Amino acid sequence: MASTRWWRSGVIYQIYPRSFADSDGDGVGDLRGITERLEYVRDLGAAAVWLSPIYRSPMADFGYDVADHTDVDPLFGTLADADDLIARAHELGLRVLLDFVPNHTSDQHPWFQESRASRDNPKRSWYVWRGGDAPPNGWVANFGDQRPAWTRDRATGEWYLHSFLPEQPDLNWDEPAVEAAMHDVLRFWLRRGVDGFRIDVAHAIGKDPELGDNEPGRRHNEDWPSVHPRLAAIRRVLEEFDGDRVAVGEVYLLDQRALAPYVTTGDELHLAHNFVFLNLPWSAQRFRETVDEFEELTREGGWPAWCLNNHDHSRTATRYGWTRARVAAMLVLTLRGTPFLFQGEELGLTDVPVPPESIVDVDRRDPERAPVPWAPPSAACPGAGFTTGRPWLPVHPDAEQLAASVQAQDPRSPLAFYRALLALRRATPALQEGSYRSLDAAPDVFAFVREHAARRVLVALNFAPFPRPLPAEAAGGRLLLSTHATTGGDALAADEGRIVEL
Ligand code: NOJ
Repeated sequence: MASTRWWRSGVIYQIYPRSFADSDGDGVGDLRGITERLEYVRDLGAAAVWLSPIYRSPMADFGYDVADHTDVDPLFGTLADADDLIARAHELGLRVLLDFVPNHTSDQHPWFQESRASRDNPKRSWYVWRGGDAPPNGWVANFGDQRPAWTRDRATGEWYLHSFLPEQPDLNWDEPAVEAAMHDVLRFWLRRGVDGFRIDVAHAIGKDPELGDNEPGRRHNEDWPSVHPRLAAIRRVLEEFDGDRVAVGEVYLLDQRALAPYVTTGDELHLAHNFVFLNLPWSAQRFRETVDEFEELTREGGWPAWCLNNHDHSRTATRYGWTRARVAAMLVLTLRGTPFLFQGEELGLTDVPVPPESIVDVDRRDPERAPVPWAPPSAACPGAGFTTGRPWLPVHPDAEQLAASVQAQDPRSPLAFYRALLALRRATPALQEGSYRSLDAAPDVFAFVREHAARRVLVALNFAPFPRPLPAEAAGGRLLLSTHATTGGDALAADEGRIVEL
C-alpha cells in the first residue's frame, strides 16, 4: 500500500539563512527575513523548508561550527524569532526542518572548552584525543588540501580529531554521554515544533574506534557499521513525538550500494540525499543507469531523495546552462522520490562570480551562496530586495532580469516553469507515489513511466541539442507539460523534456 507520508510526496526547499532575506539591513539574511518570505515558498508549491544552521556560532564554517545547539545566533535573531518562523510556516501549511550537526561542534562550544582543559577533564572523552609525536593516523580533513584531520592542542600536547576545520573538533560518538546529549538537542527543537532534521555528514558519526587508516575500498573515518544503530536511535527520538517527523541524512557516499542501506531497513533515516547527479556527465544513458541502479537497490523498501544543487556545489544553471537545467529540473521533480530544491534554483540562478580577494568561505563556496534577488536592484536599493544594507556576498549581476518579482510576472520564466512543475506534481498522484519503469528510448533520450492506480504518466527527456524521437509508448498521450512553449508531435525538440499522460 502506497504511503502518503508528507516527506515522500512533498518537495523540500533548502534555505541558506545568510543569503535568503535580510530584515534588519546588516547585509546578512535572518529568521525574520525568512518568515516574511514564507508565502513565496508556499506559492512555489513546496511542502517544507530546511534551514541550514541557525545556532550560535563563530561562523568559521558559517554555522556548521555550532557553539550552542539550543540558541539562535544573534546574527539570525532570537529563539522567539525561531518560534515565530515555525508558527508562521505551520499556518501556511509548510513544515520546518532544521540542520542538525552531530559530527562536530565549534571549538568554542563549552563542551570542547572543557574537554581541552586537561587530560582528566570529565568531558575529555567527548572528543577524540590521542597522544604521540605525530598524528595518530593518516586521516585527512575535508577542507584544506589534504591537511591532516588532527591538530595538536597546546593545553595538553595531545592531538584532537577534526574531519573539517581545526575549529570544528569531532565529537566522540563512542562515548554514550555524547549520544545522550545530542538526543537532548533534538528533543529541545522537537518540543519547539520542528518537523525534522537534515543531518549533516550523517555517515560520519560511526568511525573505527581503533582509528585504522583508510584502505582502498574501505574507509575507517566514516560509514563504519556503528553508524547504523546510531541513526536508528536518532529516529527513535523523533518517534517519541507525534506528527510524522523526519530524519534526512546528508550521506555523502557516491556509491549507491553504500548509500542504500541507510534508508532500506525501515528503522534508520527516512531519507538520505543522493548526490550522484551532481557528478554525472550530461548523458541520458548515464542518468538512466544511475536511476535504475538506485531503483533496484530500494525496490524492497527505501525512498530516494534526489537533488541537483545545494550550498556546497556549483549551481545547476552554471553546470549545465538553463536550457539543460530545466530538463534536469523536470527529471528530479518527476522521479520516484523526494526532490530537494536549493533556494534560487527555481529562479535559474547561476553562480555569482566573486573576486578571489573577496572570497570568504574556507572552501570557496561563495558563488553558489550569493543572495536571492527578490527585486531588480535600483539606485535606492542596490541590494535587490535582499537587504537594504551592503550584502555579505555580491548580488547576481543579472538580478534585473532574474529577480523573483520580475519572474513572477513572466509566464516563460524559470520561476513560472518550476511553479508549473510543482503544481503538476501535486495534482498527479502517479508523479508522487507511482511506480517507476524506464524505457528503451532513442539514444540521448531518458524516458520512464510512473504508474499509480491505473493512471500512467510518461516522462521523456531529450539530453541532445537536436531533435530526437519520442518513445513509441507516448503516442496518443495527452500533453501535461513541456520545457518548451510550443511542442507536440512525435519528436522531442532539442533539449526538450515532456510529460505526457497515457
Ligand atoms: C556539510 C555541509 O553541507 C557543509 O556546508 C559543511 O561545511 C560540512 N558539512 C561540515 O559541517
